[in-house]
Amino acid sequence: MNNKNLKYYIETWGCQMNEEDSEKLSGMLKRIGYELTDSRESASIIIFNTCCVRENAENKVFGNLGQLKKLKEKNPDLIIAICGCMMQQKGMADKVLNMFPFVDIIFGTHNAYKFPEYLNRVIQDGVQVKEILNKEEGIVEGIPVDRKSDTKAYVTIMYGCNNFCTYCIVPYVRGRERSRKPEDIEKEVKDLVAEGYKEVTLLGQNVNSYGKGLEEELSFADLLRRLNEIEGIERIRFMTSHPKDLNMDVIKAIKECDKLCEQIHLPVQSGSTKILKDMNRHYDREYYINLIKDIKREIPNVGITTDIIIGFPGETEEDFKDTLELVKEVEYDSAFTFIYSRRQYTPADRMENQIEDEIKHRRFNELVETVNSIVKEKNKTLEGKKLEILVEGPSKNDDSKLTGRSRSGKLVNFPGDKSLVGKLVDVKIIKSKGFSLEGEIVK
Ligand code: 5AD
Ligand code: SF4
Repeated sequence: MNNKNLKYYIETWGCQMNEEDSEKLSGMLKRIGYELTDSRESASIIIFNTCCVRENAENKVFGNLGQLKKLKEKNPDLIIAICGCMMQQKGMADKVLNMFPFVDIIFGTHNAYKFPEYLNRVIQDGVQVKEILNKEEGIVEGIPVDRKSDTKAYVTIMYGCNNFCTYCIVPYVRGRERSRKPEDIEKEVKDLVAEGYKEVTLLGQNVNSYGKGLEEELSFADLLRRLNEIEGIERIRFMTSHPKDLNMDVIKAIKECDKLCEQIHLPVQSGSTKILKDMNRHYDREYYINLIKDIKREIPNVGITTDIIIGFPGETEEDFKDTLELVKEVEYDSAFTFIYSRRQYTPADRMENQIEDEIKHRRFNELVETVNSIVKEKNKTLEGKKLEILVEGPSKNDDSKLTGRSRSGKLVNFPGDKSLVGKLVDVKIIKSKGFSLEGEIVK
């Protein structure tokens, strides 16, 4: 092994949880002297942090692994590590090793903190390491985190999921719910403030059930109120909320706590009561719509976003129309739309009445069009309004402009000096560009 080249490349698929895990892998590597590179060719370690929530996420990983074969032939010292949700699936690690025997390290979602140890074994002993733990261990605190942004940070408050929605593989690969102790979360937020961070997003598969199993009795709303007391943090967001567990207490906390942003990600998944039942979501259409009404009444100008799956087994045209109607009624600020993907070992995979691909695609396109036109209409109503923006950095498409988000989560681009990065500014919206907004600083 040529130890002079201490560069690593990391590619992350999937959700914010995976992003956060990758920030920890990066943090650990930087601590032992490695540097990040954005080119696979110049790396001595390549890490793929994988996702398995839908089949296409898996296919991308297989495709990318195939491409590494040549790199490994050119540079036998290259260390290839694969981790994340996909590796945690039953039988997957062996399948990957069979197909791609040149992989050096495979681990799952419960033991990422051991990565430096695995790396050491490969470098020192020249062995292949495969370790997938079947059961989640306690929460490991104190792992260094190398964050992507300097202004906003993710803070995981709980791991795992107990909900077992019938389509979803997450509970099988991320284990049962475990909450971090409030003191540990507070310490992380305070440390972030000391480093200059202005915004935190609290992460969990179902943040509203935070607190179960902790020694001290504490609800998610209690935690939010405690974090709101921390001096120096400007904004607090959280995701994901499960409609069945989002209660008035949390809605009230958002209303009353100045740092809690007026934004809720509330996946509906379907607008049909029948499909929601088959999905094991524990709420119906009427309950969800009433919840939205409560939220909008209590929190003016709230941004509401969602996840929607179309083509779940047994979805009729009527069910699909229910989803379209619900989307129009709620008027989401944005929606992540997905085509149902069969996941091995989940109950929905064993259901009859799987929907044909052609129907799924037609419905998907219609849903996307509906969502897009609502989002655009909603953004248009913001023209002329003044929004408080946290400046995140230069705009992606136009380096001469700055970019940032409003409290409700709207992306806004505007001219301004780079010294404003990390600051809160008031921006008047001049024009809606469909999905983003253009504005100018008024203060
Ligand atoms: N097929 C399609 N979408 C899925 N999701 C979860 N499992 C599946 C699946 N099998 C979506 C849900 C969830 C989001 C993170 O991914 O909408 O909220
Ligand atoms: Fe999956 Fe449902 Fe848990 Fe979300 S709440 S991670 S969709 S099982």
